[in-house]
Amino acid sequence: MCGIFAYTGAQGKDAGKVLLDGLLSLEYRGYDSAGIFTPESGSIKSPGAVAELRKKIPTGFGGKSGIAHLRWATHGEPNEKNAHPHQDCTGELWIVHNGIIENFKELKEKLAHAGHRFASDSDTEVLAHLVEEHLKKEKNFEKAALAALNDLRGTYGIALQYKGEPDKLIAARMGSPIVIGLGDGEHFIASDPSPILPHTKKVVFLEDGEVAVLTPHKHSIYKLNAEKVDRTPTEIDWSPEEAQKGGYEHFMLKEIMEGPEVVENTLRGRVIAEKGMVKLGGLEAVAKELASIERVIIVGCGTAYYAGLVGEYMLEEFAGIPVEVELASEFRYRAPVLNQKTALIAISQSGETLDTLEAIREGKRKGALTLGIVNAVGSTIARETDAGVYNHAGPEVSVASTKALVSQLTALALFTVFLGRQRAMSEETGKEITAELKKLPAKLKAILGRTADIEVLAKKYASSRDFLFIGRKYNYPVALEGAIKLKEISYVHAEGYSAGEMKHGPIAMIDEHFPTFALAPHDSVYEKVVSNIHELKARKGPVVALVTEGDTRVAELADDVIAVPKTLEMLSPILNVVPLQLFAYYFAKEKGLNVDRPRNLAKSVTVE
Ligand code: F6R
Repeated sequence: MCGIFAYTGAQGKDAGKVLLDGLLSLEYRGYDSAGIFTPESGSIKSPGAVAELRKKIPTGFGGKSGIAHLRWATHGEPNEKNAHPHQDCTGELWIVHNGIIENFKELKEKLAHAGHRFASDSDTEVLAHLVEEHLKKEKNFEKAALAALNDLRGTYGIALQYKGEPDKLIAARMGSPIVIGLGDGEHFIASDPSPILPHTKKVVFLEDGEVAVLTPHKHSIYKLNAEKVDRTPTEIDWSPEEAQKGGYEHFMLKEIMEGPEVVENTLRGRVIAEKGMVKLGGLEAVAKELASIERVIIVGCGTAYYAGLVGEYMLEEFAGIPVEVELASEFRYRAPVLNQKTALIAISQSGETLDTLEAIREGKRKGALTLGIVNAVGSTIARETDAGVYNHAGPEVSVASTKALVSQLTALALFTVFLGRQRAMSEETGKEITAELKKLPAKLKAILGRTADIEVLAKKYASSRDFLFIGRKYNYPVALEGAIKLKEISYVHAEGYSAGEMKHGPIAMIDEHFPTFALAPHDSVYEKVVSNIHELKARKGPVVALVTEGDTRVAELADDVIAVPKTLEMLSPILNVVPLQLFAYYFAKEKGLNVDRPRNLAKSVTVE
């Protein structure tokens, strides 16, 4: 996700240096380009890392105030033209932005009609021109900014600067985090506290719909209707590393906690709930070909492969299209039969996993339509596929994939409605799925509110040497995911199994020392899983069960239960993976292991 940093001060510090140092501490968020602006020296932008930007900065560049940005591309290629800061027609107004402006196309048309000329493809640039337009009428920077913000739909974290009042900065937040740093004779704006902490520990976290106006000696906060807000500053004593983790002990926990926001970001602007339809901009160019596709093959590795297994169930049940899911590392070494009527979908967080990339190349050679469900914008898989859907989950730092999976499953549900509505899916079913998708962030928040209970459970079982995870139908891949998560960060032997397969082998291992995590939500296979739990208990196996809120039958049977809110069966994996992620996290933490950097593993597997 993009990183914003802005500074205004009367202490004689060089804004150029302050800003560049700040950008470095935001680099962990991921980026594809960087840029800086000061009213005294103008703007410099560069694709790549902050080091690349630094190389382009001439001696003498600096000033007393300025804005800076690290970009993670959403609208437009990751190049210099689309890097921030963006400016208006006059070069007087400059802006950096994190988020997505949903109505930018209509605003752009109106502004173009009024004579504005645009230099980039970015939604952010539209905002600079919008403030310029309002400034013509309002003749006041603050009022113009407020009026422009009231025209926007979508998400933003913003820092805005006007050469006419060079020591003033305006910040605003809607959906994308903004922190204000309150120093002595200096103020800061940032996406998180990490670049602010070397200067001051006193901060104000803006709430959605709030705007801050800062000069070196004064800060004021308003609502979008110009009503003044009184906010007591918070003192934070996080180390810079803790600040990057949002105050959480590990990136993994921070990323699990981002689940509700991630689902919102994956859904944003894509759901037409009143028609039971889905709009996927990245698939528009191939929509016609997709309508005549006769078969789908999904490829991925590890967690991404498990997402594909859920996708298979979704697509076959609701889009009525035959689907196969294959480990990318196997696909390319056999002789897969593909043709122009096959869509080959790669699922990958990093977009760089070599096996998945090579599977896509193999598919292309054989004439398949290649698609990507990818998180890293501009990554190799995103570039080499014919079309695709970006997850918009933001950078995932912890090696174990958590929030990326939540977004992959959400994107697959969107894709299912997209393909389904091209085929036999009724408007009613489309409406039911899209309406429920919109409820998932609130349901995820409810699960995350029970984190402390899951922590207690994980501690209780943390001395176990083995763990079995079982589930059926949509929750079979969830069981596989529960096992891989536990294995990779706690180094404990864990197996994921289809509950129905238990009697064909693994039940032989069960005794009072071998616990099972059973996924038993109230769905079409509930009774079958309850029978499997009986079988485990008959062999004295301890059972932790994931159940639907209100369930009492499994609670009587299992040793421990975790309850999750009810949702549609096809969407249940999106909720159910989260308690398993938390369970694995606290299990590994209890063992004192390096949760974010498990031994022998890398975040991006670019070798075979
Ligand atoms: C598990 C995990 C891995 C990745 C796999 C694919 O927690 O992180 O199994 O899911 O290496 O990576 P991407 O999605 O980047 O292709």
